[in-house]
Amino acid sequence: MSKLLLIDDEEDVQYSFKRIFDVPEIELTTASSGEEGLKIIPKLKPDLVLMDIRMGGMNGLETLRRIRQMDSRLLVILMTAYGTTQTAIEAMKLGAYDYLLKPFDVLKLKEIVARALKAAHDMRQVVSYQPLLESEDYESGIVGRSEPMQTVFKLIGQVAGTDATVLITGESGTGKELVARAIYHHSNRNTQPFLAVNCAAIPEQLLESELFGHERGSFTGATVQRVGKFEQCNAGTIFLDEIGDMTPATQTKILRVLQSGTFERVGGNSPISVDVRVIAATNKPLEEAVAARQFREDLFYRLNVVRLQIPPLRERRKDVRLLVNYFLKKFARDQKTAPKSVSGDVIKALEQYHWPGNVRELENIVRRALVVAKGDAILSSDLPVEITGAGTGATTGPVTMSAPGAAQSETGVPEVVMLARRLFQWARKDPKVKILPAVERELVLQALKETNGNQVQAAKMLGMTRATLRKRIERFDIQRELKLQ
Ligand SMILES: Nc1ncnc2c1ncn2[C@@H]1O[C@H](COP(=O)(O)OP(=O)(O)OP(=O)(O)O)[C@@H](O)[C@H]1O
Ligand SMILES: [Mg+2]
Repeated sequence: MSKLLLIDDEEDVQYSFKRIFDVPEIELTTASSGEEGLKIIPKLKPDLVLMDIRMGGMNGLETLRRIRQMDSRLLVILMTAYGTTQTAIEAMKLGAYDYLLKPFDVLKLKEIVARALKAAHDMRQVVSYQPLLESEDYESGIVGRSEPMQTVFKLIGQVAGTDATVLITGESGTGKELVARAIYHHSNRNTQPFLAVNCAAIPEQLLESELFGHERGSFTGATVQRVGKFEQCNAGTIFLDEIGDMTPATQTKILRVLQSGTFERVGGNSPISVDVRVIAATNKPLEEAVAARQFREDLFYRLNVVRLQIPPLRERRKDVRLLVNYFLKKFARDQKTAPKSVSGDVIKALEQYHWPGNVRELENIVRRALVVAKGDAILSSDLPVEITGAGTGATTGPVTMSAPGAAQSETGVPEVVMLARRLFQWARKDPKVKILPAVERELVLQALKETNGNQVQAAKMLGMTRATLRKRIERFDIQRELKLQ
C-alpha cells in the first residue's frame, strides 16, 4: 500500500481526491495547510506528497523547501491554478518531482501519481537527491501554459543547477536564446559572465579567433594579441548560438574544451585552462549535418548531453493568446501608453495561422498591428493578409518570414516547406545533388514555358529582375533545352 499526502486548503480538492484515490492500493491523508503537512510528514512517512502552491499561511514553495530539508527523498508534486513560468521553474529547481496545472483531468492525475509512486519506490534504493539552489527573484519572461512549454520549464529547472552542457534545438524564433538565458539566470553561475556568440554571424575564418583568441602575428591582420570569448567568460556560461555553422577546426577545438577544459589561442602553443559552461543552440537538424559529415559526431554527442527541444508555435496554439497579451503589455510599458485590446476574431486568426517564424513573427505582427491600429483595439484589418486570408484587411507588405500568400497544405505546413523537405530527402539520397541550382534551373524553365517564352512575365513570376533571368538562362543553357522540346 502506498501512502499519499495531499496538502491543499480547498475542501473541494480534498473531497475530489478522496473520491479519485478511493482504491485499496492507496491510503490518502489530507492536510489543509503547509504547517499541518509538515507536522504530519515525520509521523506518516508518506511515499508521495501532492501540494497546492497557493495556500493561506505557508505557501507551497516554502513548504516544499522545508520538506526537502526534512527528507530529500520524499517526492512532491506541486499543483496550481496559476501557472506561471516562474513558479514552474522554481518548483523544479527546488526539487519538485512534477508540476501540475489545475484543473487537471483525472486520468492524467492518476497516471502521474502512479509514475511518481514507482519512482518513489525506485528512489528508496538510490542515494539522496541534492536539493538545488535557493530561489531567486528573476522573472524569466518566458510565456507559455501549453503542455509542451511546461515540459520545457521543467527541464530548465532541472538542468539549471547542474553544469551539464545543454543543446537547445527548435525552429527559428521559438525562443532558444530566451531559454538559454533562463538556464543561466537560474544556475549557480548567475553572478559570473554570460556571453553569447552567434557562430553564423561571424565569418568562418574569424570565429576561431573570436572564441579562443589569437597571438600577435598569428595571421595577417592579427596585429595585437586577443583574448577570446572562452577566456573572457571563465567561470561563467557561454552561449554558442547557431552551432551548426562552424569549420571543422573550430569544432575540434570546442570538443577539446568540453572534454578537457583546455585550448590554445590561434597561433599559440601553451594550453589555457578554463571552466566554462556551454549552452548551444541551433535551428538546423544537427543529426543531418552529422550524417552529411559536416558536423563532428563526437562533438554532437558531447553537446547533446541534455537536449531541450522547443516546440514550434503551431504546436502550442494555446499560448498564442497569452503571448499576444504579454507583448501588448510589454510594448505599452515600453512606450508608456495604456495597452490596446484585441478583438476575438484577431485572436482566432492568430491561433489558426501556421507561424513559420514562430514567436518572433508573432511579436513582430503585434508590434506592427499596434502601429497600424487606429483606435484602442487591434482589429483583423490591422493584420497582414497572410494571417487573415487574402483579400481582407489592409496590408502594406509582408512583415513575416513566410512567403507572401504561401498556400497551406492539409497538414498545416506551407506547401513550399513541404516541397523543400522533399528536396532535402532527395539530396540526402544522392550526395551529388546541389539543391539550389537544380531547383533554379527547373523554375526558370517552367516559368518560360508558362509564359510562352515571355521573359518579362517570367521574371516577374519568379520574382527576379530580367537581367538575372537572362543570366540564369545563359548559365543553365536553357535556350537549347527549350528548342529541343
Ligand atoms: N515563450 C516566449 N515568451 C515570450 N517571448 C518569447 C517567447 N519565445 C520567444 N520570445 C521572443 O521572441 C523573440 C525570438 O526569440 P529568440 O531570439 O529566443 O528565438 P530563437 O529561437 O533564438 O530564434 P533564432 O533561431 O531565429 O535565433 C524574442 O524577442 C523573444 O523574446
Ligand atoms: Mg537565436
